[in-house]
This record gives sequence, C-alpha cells and structure tokens, in this order.
Amino acid sequence: MTKTKTAKESLAVMTNLVLPNEINQLNNMFGGELLARMDRISSISAKMHSGSFQVVTASVNHVSFNKPIPLGSTVKLVSKVTRAFKSSMEIYVDVYVYDYQNEVYNKTNDAIYTFVAVDENNKPTAVPELVAETEEEIKRFDAALRRKQLSLVLAGRMEPKDAHELKALFSS
Ligand SMILES: CC(C)(COP(=O)(O)OP(=O)(O)OC[C@H]1O[C@@H](n2cnc3c(N)ncnc32)[C@H](O)[C@@H]1OP(=O)(O)O)[C@@H](O)C(=O)NCCC(=O)NCCS
Repeated sequence: MTKTKTAKESLAVMTNLVLPNEINQLNNMFGGELLARMDRISSISAKMHSGSFQVVTASVNHVSFNKPIPLGSTVKLVSKVTRAFKSSMEIYVDVYVYDYQNEVYNKTNDAIYTFVAVDENNKPTAVPELVAETEEEIKRFDAALRRKQLSLVLAGRMEPKDAHELKALFSS
C-alpha cells in the first residue's frame, strides 16, 4: 500500500441534471436525492484514496442545504478526501449549480462524510495517510480531527472527556 496520497488524488467530479422524478412539491431537488448523490461520489473518493474496493459510510457529519436546486438544473458535485486516520477517511463534498445566463457555477451546498475501508471480512483496514497541499486542503485537514471526535461523541463511541481536540476549541 502507498504510504501517503495527496488530496487531489481522490478528486471526483459528477455532473448531472435534476429530473422530474427527483423533485419535491416545490419543484426543487428532493433532499434525499442530493444525499444519495453525495454518498455515491464520496464513496468514489474514499475508494480512490484507500485503493480499496470496499468502503462503507460510517457517518454523515454535516450537510447543509443552503439554496434550493430547481428542476432542470445542472448540478456538479466535487469531492475529495480531507484527512485519513487509521481506517477512516473524511470526505468533503461541494455542490454547485450552473448559471447558464452568467456562465458560472455557484456553490449551493456542502457535506462532510466519513468512510471506512474494510477488508474481505468487513473488518476495518488501514488506509494511506493524506498530504494536504493547498490552503483550503490544509484548513480542512486541520479541522478534521475535531469533527471526527464530535462525530464519535455523538455516536456514543467516545467519552466527551477524551475529546481533547474538540474541548480545546471551546477553551481557547
Ligand atoms: C463503520 C464500521 C465499519 C466501523 O466498524 P467497527 O468494527 O465499529 O470498527 P472501529 O470501531 O474500529 O471503527 C473503525 C473506524 O471507523 C471510525 N468510526 C466509526 N464510527 C464512526 C463515526 N460515527 N464517526 C466517525 N468515525 C467513525 C472509527 O473512529 C475508526 O476510525 P480509525 O480506524 O480511522 O481510527 C461498522 O460500524 C460498519 O460496518 N457499519 C455499517 C456501515 C454501513 O453499512 N454503511 C452504509 C449504511 S446504509
């Protein structure tokens, strides 16, 4: 297994339309449809980083639905691994909608997923370390440990007293 990988090695991009069977009563994209697309693309980034065919969603740490996405929109999802731990990886997904009038993509949503690489017995298996390069990648890398601890505390997998990185946020 490669010891380290850069964030850009796990970059995945998915562009698609919003079709009539993917909308809610207000003619905007159904939240569950966007979640499914986010889960799918982050699993691709997790596979690319881990080099493992088998990865599973461990948690959805954050999703924000900032702006509605109307029927017929061109939606682009961009995902990258932001930090790798032992077997788990944090993945950021940014969502953009194309504005045909101004010919630009505008950001509408984002989400943070945690995936775990598993072996043939469905047991967590080691993944390469991640090297963050750009300013944004470094910022996301640095905050990822806090988010992991928060996710583990909320899932009842970590005692709040042991979440040192998270506690430091409130005491600084
Ligand atoms: C996720 C899963 C593999 C964890 O397995 P486990 O036997 O509990 O193993 P561990 O406790 O060693 O956890 C493995 C890693 O996942 C991380 N993890 C587990 N739950 C987590 C959570 N809620 N948030 C963040 N990280 C989590 C652990 O911190 C650990 O990370 P590390 O190895 O990088 O330090 C297991 O719970 C599972 O298979 N869940 C179902 C996944 C699934 O089916 N997803 C699709 C849902 S439809």
